[in-house]
Amino acid sequence: MTVLIVSESYFGNTRTVAQAITSGLAHELGPDAVTVLRPGGAPHELPPELDLLLVGAPTHEFSMPKAQSRRQAAEKGATDGDTVGVREWLQKITPRGDLRVLTFDTSIRMKFMPGSASKAAFKSLKKRGFRMAERGQSFYVADTAGPLVDGEEQRAEAWGRQLADSLSG
Ligand SMILES: Cc1cc2nc3c(=O)[nH]c(=O)nc-3n(C[C@H](O)[C@H](O)[C@H](O)COP(=O)(O)O)c2cc1C
Repeated sequence: MTVLIVSESYFGNTRTVAQAITSGLAHELGPDAVTVLRPGGAPHELPPELDLLLVGAPTHEFSMPKAQSRRQAAEKGATDGDTVGVREWLQKITPRGDLRVLTFDTSIRMKFMPGSASKAAFKSLKKRGFRMAERGQSFYVADTAGPLVDGEEQRAEAWGRQLADSLSG
C-alpha cells in the first residue's frame, strides 16, 4: 500500500496533524508506505502505484490559503509557511479519476462555518476530475497560531489507522 500526504501549514499545526495521520497509517501499513510532502515539492504526475492521496491545509477565510492570506499569516508571526499551497498544486496535477483522495484541514471551531479548506479542496478535486474524492476531517486549533485542541493529535492518528484498515480490509 502506498499513501501520499500533501499538506500545507503556516504555524505548524496542520503539519503536526499530517504527522499524526502518518503515524497512524504507518502503524498499520509500515513506515515505508507513507510519504508526506509540502505542495511546493509534490509531483504534478502522481505515482501510478498510489493507493490513497490525502490533501491537507489550514482553513483561511473559510477556504484554502491564497497569496494574501499567506501574507496575513506571516504578519501574524508564521515563520515557516508554504509559498505554494494545495490550492495552486491542485490546479497543476494531472487528474486521476480512479484514485481515492481525502481532504483534511485545521480550523478554529466556530458556530457558523460557511466553508473550510477541506471542503474547498474537495470541491476543487471534483471539478478537476478526481471522481473518487471525499471530504475528510477537520481538526481544531484553539487560535490562529494554535495549539491544536486537546485530543486532536490523537484523533488524527486514530483516523490514520482507520484509513489504513479501510485500505487493507
Ligand atoms: C489569514 C487567516 C485567515 C483565517 N481564516 C480562518 C477561517 O476562516 N476559519 C477558521 O476556522 N480559521 C481561520 N484561520 C485560522 C487558521 O485555520 C489557523 O491559523 C490554522 O488552522 C493553523 O494551522 P497551521 O498552523 O497549519 O497554519 C485563519 C488564519 C489566518 C492566518
